[in-house]
Amino acid sequence: MALKITVIGTGYLGATHAAAMAELGFEVLGLDVVPEKIDMLSAGRVPMYEPGLEELLRRHVAGIEGSSGRLRFTTSYEEAGEFGDVHFVCVNTPQKHGEYACDMSYVDSAFASLAPHLKRPALVVGKSTVPVGSAERLGRLLAEKAPAGPDVELAWNPEFLREGFAVDDTLHPDRIVVGVESESAEKLLREVYATPVGEGSPFVVTDFPTAELVKTAANSFLATKISFINAMAEVCEAAGGDVVKLAEAIGYDERIGKKFLRAGVGFGGGCLPKDIRAFMARAGELGADQALTFLREVDSINMRRRGHMVELARETVGGTSFLGKRVAVLGATFKPDSDDVRDSPALNVAGQIHLQGGQVTVYDPKGMDNARRLFPTLGYADTAREAVRGADVVLHLTEWREFRELDPAELAEVVTSPIILDGRNALDPVAWREAGWTYRAMGRPRA
Ligand code: UDX
Repeated sequence: MALKITVIGTGYLGATHAAAMAELGFEVLGLDVVPEKIDMLSAGRVPMYEPGLEELLRRHVAGIEGSSGRLRFTTSYEEAGEFGDVHFVCVNTPQKHGEYACDMSYVDSAFASLAPHLKRPALVVGKSTVPVGSAERLGRLLAEKAPAGPDVELAWNPEFLREGFAVDDTLHPDRIVVGVESESAEKLLREVYATPVGEGSPFVVTDFPTAELVKTAANSFLATKISFINAMAEVCEAAGGDVVKLAEAIGYDERIGKKFLRAGVGFGGGCLPKDIRAFMARAGELGADQALTFLREVDSINMRRRGHMVELARETVGGTSFLGKRVAVLGATFKPDSDDVRDSPALNVAGQIHLQGGQVTVYDPKGMDNARRLFPTLGYADTAREAVRGADVVLHLTEWREFRELDPAELAEVVTSPIILDGRNALDPVAWREAGWTYRAMGRPRA
């Protein structure tokens, strides 16, 4: 009989995973404790902007015309416990308020709520990013609380999807990593990830701690790579070098590689910043804090970028203050092709300038609603053109394609001063300068 799958938590990770599992042919039940989310998903609507996800979902949600009907949603743990042979736990682990450690309360509550309903053999698979050692602890909880006792197994299967590419990353992963303690768990996961997802993807089998560490190590490496190039940007600025050329030149070395070497206002989002902090906190608990002190530097280089952009903007509008100055901010999300504004460098910079008396107007193609909720006191415009109208300086802080396609000549007509600061090194300096703009970027020489 075909395996039945539940997916607990329907954020970026869970909603995408549930739809992908239905696409592979499994019967899937998605669970979330927020009834509004369940109502939306059951109607075939995705509560966030993620390219391709709504189409994938609508192909499978029961009740939608022409769908496979293989995907349903619920708020009931009892129903999930009865339904699933494999239960994927995909809830988030945000940073704790005012601390480096991550907040495990959603994961803990998902396991505690599911366990009493596991009355027959099942495999529970953790996908959330957790501090190393969590799987072992959660395995003990399942053994104590699940009525089926030893017939309930645990596996850890970290997820590496990127926002904006979530569907593709889930259906065609670089690698599948599974932390298991038994051959039966490995066998079941190989079955779940059989074609087409698993096709061509290396399948790495590990123990629990290694599987948990793979995820935090991968994100720490990516964060380090970005902070490395941003550190080089600081040196380039001091020495008159060009960090974009430098990145291109070192990137030709295959051992270094070209990706993740874009200098600018740095990394943000719901993963990299909190993952490196939680990793440091956990290493401290394990007595291995010295091994990760470099991550503190990675974090501080990253945060320095935001302040540096604010200084650059202040210097551009006259040096001492933003009072009476209009600042246009292009971009609010932490990266393009997402509506996610969590720990967004763009909004952080906009907020700092606002606090220092600047009149800030923000425009973003998809992140406006979330930005307005998080920073209600900033000014907002409905188009890039409206945002830059009357601006003394324009800041490009999220590299949406829409911004690369703007006509600099047209925008030059509506600003007060045609000065653009490219915080993502993503615009074409020649095109902007030819249209009469003063173009400045982070880590590059002034023209
Ligand atoms: C990241 C990991 O890439 C993914 O594997 C993991 O599962 C979750 O965390 P995500 O947060 O979606 O994914 O975004 P990512 O594409 O990694 O970008 C993170 C941040 O780094 C963004 O703010 C982006 O603008 C910034 N970045 C990225 C740079 O500043 N320079 C770069 O060269 C690349």
